[in-house]
Amino acid sequence: MAPSKVAIVGAGAVGASIAYALMLKDVASEILIVDVVQDIVTGQVLDLSDVACVSSTKVKAATSKEAGQADIIVVTAGAKQKDGEPRTDLIGRNYKILESVIGGMQPIKPEAIMLLVSNPVDILTQIAQKLSGLPQKQVFGSGTYLDSTRLRALISDVLNVNANSVHAYVLGEHGDSQFVAWGAASVAGKPLLDFPEIQKLDRKQVQNNIAGKALDIIKLKGATYYGIGACAADLCESIILNKHQLRPLSVFVPRLGCCLSMPAKFGYNGIEEIYEIPLNQDEEQQLQASATSMKSILSKF
Ligand code: NAI
Ligand code: 2OP
Repeated sequence: MAPSKVAIVGAGAVGASIAYALMLKDVASEILIVDVVQDIVTGQVLDLSDVACVSSTKVKAATSKEAGQADIIVVTAGAKQKDGEPRTDLIGRNYKILESVIGGMQPIKPEAIMLLVSNPVDILTQIAQKLSGLPQKQVFGSGTYLDSTRLRALISDVLNVNANSVHAYVLGEHGDSQFVAWGAASVAGKPLLDFPEIQKLDRKQVQNNIAGKALDIIKLKGATYYGIGACAADLCESIILNKHQLRPLSVFVPRLGCCLSMPAKFGYNGIEEIYEIPLNQDEEQQLQASATSMKSILSKF
């Protein structure tokens, strides 16, 4: 039987949005909801069970131990940024939470896929690869999938083509040191940089706007959750249906010595291949800077 039991650990705004988006896709047999606050679990399960009008996915409250036996374990537990706060400032709090989440799930089903969403996602992904005991290819983070979605939507508006026809990636950290791989971006096989509309853009400004979009939203409404809800549900669907999709995901990149986002092919066995995009000198420098920043934080753990 296809692996389709999904546990969501952390039932706040992000966990609930992922559960909701995944229920609408109707590809998971069961979604298990876990949180340290039992009223949140009960409330989310009752609320999500009303999605039954369009979904046959069952939603249930679960313990951490039960979550450890799911096919896909999505980790969204943890603190979120306050207005103006970088994601990396969350590491002290969210490291401890991740340690207790993974400890509570042990022994984890050996075939499980663990998808990290909590921030700082690249650092937590690398820590989860170590703490979970799962093979490295089965533990990855949503990385810059959300940022790439934001970029493609922006380019879609500029060129008036559907975002799905825009092949463009934000790479590196899901955080302040992320960068746009402009050189390899294309639409209909034509380099993006050959489009006069794109040449007119202030590309540095675009990159800053994409990197800053989360804080813009946080300033206005306190948190971001719909975008990551859709992205993480898409990742779960791709795993369940073994689609061999390519997405920019936070994966361990051996030549960088840390987890950062690169386009990666994945399915129900986890990461199958990392595709290194050709980068120009400036982009490579930005990737290296992202790696240096991640490794300096990781060296404290
Ligand atoms: P929230 O505060 O609404 O929910 C967090 C939940 O985690 C709370 O319900 C809390 O009780 C729970 N929790 C804390 N410790 C736990 C533990 N040991 N076990 C189980 N549950 C525990 O926060 P929100 O908005 O849902 O954000 C969650 C995380 O997702 C944050 O770190 C945020 O930065 C991150 N995030 C990541 C995105 C990405 O693209 N990777 C996008 C948006 C948010
Ligand atoms: C986002 O990019 C806060 O990481 C979260 O929306």
